[in-house]
Amino acid sequence: MFALANKVAIVTGASSGIGRATAKLFTEQGAKLVVAARRQAELEALVAEIEDAAGTAIALAGDVRDEAYAKALVDLAVGRFGGLDIAFNNAGSVGQMGPVPDMLLKTWHETIDTNLTGAFIGAKYQVPALLERGGGSLIFTSSFVGRTAGIPGMAAYAAAKAGLIGLTQVLAAEYGAQGLRVNALLPGGTDTPGATTTTPEARAFVEGIHALKRMAQPQEIARSALYLASDASSFTTGTALFADGGVSINRT
Ligand SMILES: NC(=O)c1ccc[n+]([C@@H]2O[C@H](COP(=O)([O-])OP(=O)(O)OC[C@H]3O[C@@H](n4cnc5c(N)ncnc54)[C@H](OP(=O)(O)O)[C@@H]3O)[C@@H](O)[C@H]2O)c1
Repeated sequence: MFALANKVAIVTGASSGIGRATAKLFTEQGAKLVVAARRQAELEALVAEIEDAAGTAIALAGDVRDEAYAKALVDLAVGRFGGLDIAFNNAGSVGQMGPVPDMLLKTWHETIDTNLTGAFIGAKYQVPALLERGGGSLIFTSSFVGRTAGIPGMAAYAAAKAGLIGLTQVLAAEYGAQGLRVNALLPGGTDTPGATTTTPEARAFVEGIHALKRMAQPQEIARSALYLASDASSFTTGTALFADGGVSINRT
């Protein structure tokens, strides 16, 4: 049910954190992967690890804000592996934080471009390839931030992550009849280099706002991505799936 044998996937943000853990899990389940991020050396190290474990992956480094890169990732999946069945648009970053009156327009654009426009550009090229194979699964990494929590200093990031849910819903409606499922995954605080918990105090705060009183390991979020990627979620589309340790409901 969770197997991805004979499936081809693109995973963005694969050089680190959630994307890296998901790339490894997808290949363990039999998928052939195109892994994407800006840092070439990290991607190559990931591919070596996957190949050591008898998996199949190829890396292409670039910036998700670059339309030519989005097209090249799809072309690589089709050219090397024959098509595309799954796309996990996961690349993102919190960007520069600060109160709205102090936020530079440049900062706003950078964060929106990375987290939202990058996902749109990815989908623009992935959708035709996914439809070519009869549908498949398109996933965006959103966040509890922007959906159920307003966290001071994160205006651009929250707007981008909320925007991904709208994008998810429209794409799910546009292509459901053609067998394409589209979902957003909303992690809670996750122990990755991209997390904002850089001091013990910040970490204690973030752990405390979750019902489970801890942060997630990236492998735990990867398992939710696998659920959305695989046939296990065959009747799930247009949803915003929380894997958030209860941060959204917690009041303790
Ligand atoms: N950690 C959390 O608490 C948390 C919670 C909710 C949601 N999320 C979301 O989960 C996703 C993964 O984050 P993470 O926590 O795993 O952080 P991470 O370890 O910093 O990973 C972020 C990944 O995105 C890539 N990336 C960032 N900007 C990019 C760009 N312009 N072009 C291409 N790749 C880019 C990074 O690769 P390069 O630097 O090599 O380009 C890296 O592989 C993000 O969308 C994040 O917003 C995280």
